[in-house]
Amino acid sequence: MEAQKFEKHILCIGAGYVGGPTMAMIAAKCPQYLVTVVDINSEKIKAWQTDELPIYEPGLLDVVKIARGRNLVFSTNVEENINKADIIFVSVNTPTKTFGEGAGKSADLQYWEKTARDILKFSDSDKIIVEKSTLPVRTASAMERILNTNQKGIHFEVISNPEFLAEGTAVADLKSPDRVLIGSRETESGIKARNEVVDVYANWVPRERIITSNIWSSELSKLVANAFLAQRISSINSISALCEQTEADVSEVANAVGQDTRIGNKFLNASVGFGGSCFKKDILNLVYICESYGLKEVASYWESVVRINEYQEHRFVQTMMRALFNTIANKRIALLGFAFKANTGDTRESPAIYITQQLLEEQAHVVITDPQALNNARHDLEGITKNLEFETDPYKAAENAHAIAIITEWELYKKLDYKKIFETMTKPAFIFDGRNILDHQKLYEIGFNVYPIGKAAKTHFK
Ligand SMILES: NC(=O)c1ccc[n+]([C@@H]2O[C@H](COP(=O)([O-])OP(=O)(O)OC[C@H]3O[C@@H](n4cnc5c(N)ncnc54)[C@H](O)[C@@H]3O)[C@@H](O)[C@H]2O)c1
Repeated sequence: MEAQKFEKHILCIGAGYVGGPTMAMIAAKCPQYLVTVVDINSEKIKAWQTDELPIYEPGLLDVVKIARGRNLVFSTNVEENINKADIIFVSVNTPTKTFGEGAGKSADLQYWEKTARDILKFSDSDKIIVEKSTLPVRTASAMERILNTNQKGIHFEVISNPEFLAEGTAVADLKSPDRVLIGSRETESGIKARNEVVDVYANWVPRERIITSNIWSSELSKLVANAFLAQRISSINSISALCEQTEADVSEVANAVGQDTRIGNKFLNASVGFGGSCFKKDILNLVYICESYGLKEVASYWESVVRINEYQEHRFVQTMMRALFNTIANKRIALLGFAFKANTGDTRESPAIYITQQLLEEQAHVVITDPQALNNARHDLEGITKNLEFETDPYKAAENAHAIAIITEWELYKKLDYKKIFETMTKPAFIFDGRNILDHQKLYEIGFNVYPIGKAAKTHFK
C-alpha cells in the first residue's frame, strides 16, 4: 500500500471490540484515508488479518473485507505507525482497578497512560489524539499534561470521541449511529482539531447527528449514557421481584409503562441481569468520581443500580434452588447461553459466570452451551474441572438434565424443539427462562415446570 496517496493517516491503538469495528467502518467509508490498527497482542492482530476475526460481530467481516488490503491495515508495529499518523484514536481497555486506592471502583488507567507515553516517545510531529476508550471525566487533562510537557516542540490536541456502539449490533450502530459525540477544548486549536475529527465522520454520518461539545461534557456523557441504560434494566428487574410476589406480570407492566412516550419502550425487558464489559465498570467509575468530589448521595444512588443487578443474579439462582426442592447437588443443569447477550461471543461480566459458580458451589453438575461463547466460557471458568461440561449441541446439553436455564436470548433458543428436549430430560423437568423469550404456556403444556422472570411460575405441582 502506497502511503503517500492517502489524504490522511489515521491510527488506532487497541484492536479490540471497539478499535477493530470502528476503524473497519472508517476505512470502509473513507477510501481516501489510510487506517491502521495496532495492538500489542500479536495473536489478535494475526486474527484480524484472516477471515477468522478475533471477535464475533454480525456483518463485521464484510465491512473488514471492503477495506482490508486497500486502506485498512492491522499491525503490531506501534512505534512506526505512531510517527506516521495525523490522528491517533486510543481504544485500549480501561478496566476497573483491582488494587490500591479505588480498587473495585475506579478505572485502571495504566494501559491508557502507557499509550500516552508511547505516543510521546515515537512522535516527531503535531498530532490529534482522540480518546475513544471510556474514561473518567477530566482524563484529557492528564493526557495533555503527559503529552505537552515534551521537549520536542510538538503540540498534541486531545479530543474526546466516546464510542456508543453496542456489541451484537456494532456494524449497524457504526453505519448509522444515533449520534457521534466529539468534545474538545474550546480554544482555537481545540476547535480546529475537533472539526478535523467531525470531517472524518461527516463522510457518512449526517451532520446533524454529529454533536460537538466541551471536552468534559463529552467524557462524562459516555459514563452517563451507560449509567442510564443500566439503570433502566435495574429498574425493570427490581419491579420483576415485586411482580413475582403480587401476581402482576412484568411484561404487561413494562408494556403499559413503556407506551408512555416520555418513558419509551426500549430496554425494559426483565432478565437475569445485565453484563458486558462496560455497564458495571462505567457505573462504578461514576460512583468513584462522585465520591472523590464528596457527592456521597449521588454516588450511592448510582451504586444501587449495580447492587440491584447483583440481587437479580442472586435471585435467579435462589429461584432455581427453591424450585428444585432446595437441593441441586448432583443434579444436571443445562445453561443455554453464556454470552452476556445475544449475537456476541463476549462473556465479560456475563451473569452466566456468577450463576455457574453458584450452581457449582451447590454441587450441581453444570453443562454450558452457547453458539459463540464457549471458548470464552472455558477461559472464564479455567481451573474448574469438577462437575462442569461444555457442549456445542443444546439438545445434548439438555439430555438427562433436571433443569435447563435460558441465560442468553439467542434467537436459536426460541426455535428449539422443546418437546424433544422434554422427552430426554429427568422428570419432573424444569425450565428457568432468564430472558422471558419462550412461550411459557406451550412449555407448560408439554409438561415442563416453567419459571419465568417477573411472572407467576407455571407448575404441575399441587
Ligand atoms: N466493548 C464495548 O462494547 C465498548 C463500547 C463502548 C466503549 N468501550 C470502551 O472502549 C475501550 C476499549 O474496549 P474494548 O471492549 O475494545 O476492549 P478490548 O479489551 O477488547 O480491547 C483493547 C485492546 O487494547 C490493547 N492494548 C492495551 N494496551 C495497549 C498498548 N499499550 N498498545 C497497544 N494496544 C494495547 C489490548 O491488547 C486489547 O486488544 C474501553 O475503554 C471500553 O470501556 C467498549
